[in-house]
Amino acid sequence: MDEKHDMEFNKDYIEPSQATRNIHYSIREVTVLARKLQKEGKRMIYLNIGDPNVYDFDLAKEAREAVIWAIQHGKCGYAPSEGLPEAIEAIEKDARDRQHIRNIVGSYMGNGASECIDLAITALANPGENILLPSPTYPQYETITSRLSIEARYYRLDESHNWEPDIEQMATLINEKTRAIVVINPNNPTGSLYSEATLRKIVELAKAHHLLILNDEIYERLVFADHAQYISLGSLDPEASVITFSGMSKAYQGPGIRIGWGIVSGKKENLESYYEAILRMARARLCASHPFQYAIKPCLEGTQSHLPGIREKLKRRRDICVEKINQIPGLSVVPSQAAFYMFVRIENCDDDAEWCRQLMVEKGVVVVPGSGFAYTEPHVGHFRIVYLADEATLIEAFDKIASFVANHNHGE
Ligand SMILES: Cc1ncc(COP(=O)(O)O)c(C=O)c1O
Repeated sequence: MDEKHDMEFNKDYIEPSQATRNIHYSIREVTVLARKLQKEGKRMIYLNIGDPNVYDFDLAKEAREAVIWAIQHGKCGYAPSEGLPEAIEAIEKDARDRQHIRNIVGSYMGNGASECIDLAITALANPGENILLPSPTYPQYETITSRLSIEARYYRLDESHNWEPDIEQMATLINEKTRAIVVINPNNPTGSLYSEATLRKIVELAKAHHLLILNDEIYERLVFADHAQYISLGSLDPEASVITFSGMSKAYQGPGIRIGWGIVSGKKENLESYYEAILRMARARLCASHPFQYAIKPCLEGTQSHLPGIREKLKRRRDICVEKINQIPGLSVVPSQAAFYMFVRIENCDDDAEWCRQLMVEKGVVVVPGSGFAYTEPHVGHFRIVYLADEATLIEAFDKIASFVANHNHGE
């Protein structure tokens, strides 16, 4: 029975809101079929979710100890809406000293960087206005703009230039209704790290058009590039209006503790009322999870001794994937320089969602199609791989992908 039919004939039918109609999150949606196949007895290899805890990465020791302490010491009441003062102080000190972000107007905490991004966009844009998103994008941005009736305009990341943004094309998208540019660096889903020159051009463009930059740097501690260096976009111009997002999910391997933050920087007189609007919304949702906020200060002020081992492990796994991908006819990839993702190119593919579905059904390998990241190209498909899994699992997955490709090319 379709929805219209339901509404006409069944008065008890509970109709979902229009705001939810275009909400899709492919990264988790592919697991619906995967779980069904698993229930039927198929062995599945999940390379779809960027959750370090699913693999051999564990919550940072400093965070674990601090959270246990907080729960044992009665820190389970509501926290201040913008976040614990000691955590905010640690976040801003780290941003100033290490990332060189100057002119900090204020910061706030949320249940994951996700909530901070949601608050930032809700406090900024009105229905009918637009925000520039990368293509491919991290899909959460689309779900927020869609829910708020804000138009998402996509600027292209250029595969032939290390997946860096095409700034000329970005500039053509800006009109009088544009409010912000979203920059994800290091990037999900490509794993690329943008050059300083590119970041400077984005800052110039944003300033020329009086736009805010939503600067998602949640992977900034997971950079293992050989010849490039991470530079925070927020450090480049103290007069640019920027919110830099980060959190506990990736660098400290605690995505389930749901703690993230946003740092608002730029000229105070330009940002004061906007920051206050974010705080008004933060008050309306009470607070971020209280005991988990105690993890922030010890983590940010700690030795970071866990990070070199993580980066080393990720780099090795990246290398294995690149080597395996290069051996499969019709597949290629721009090696990632950070995070734990790569966006693999499939030649002669008109429907990457169907390609990934068949791969899952036939071989039990779960990856997310490029179209799930708002990226399509004629006759070329993509899929995102998460390479957090151990080396043996990655090798097994790519052997299965090679066999899948060989079967499907056979007889063409
Ligand atoms: C680019 C990007 N931004 C934000 C998030 C969300 O982070 P959090 O777990 O802190 O909500 C993710 C999670 O995968 C991400 O990849």
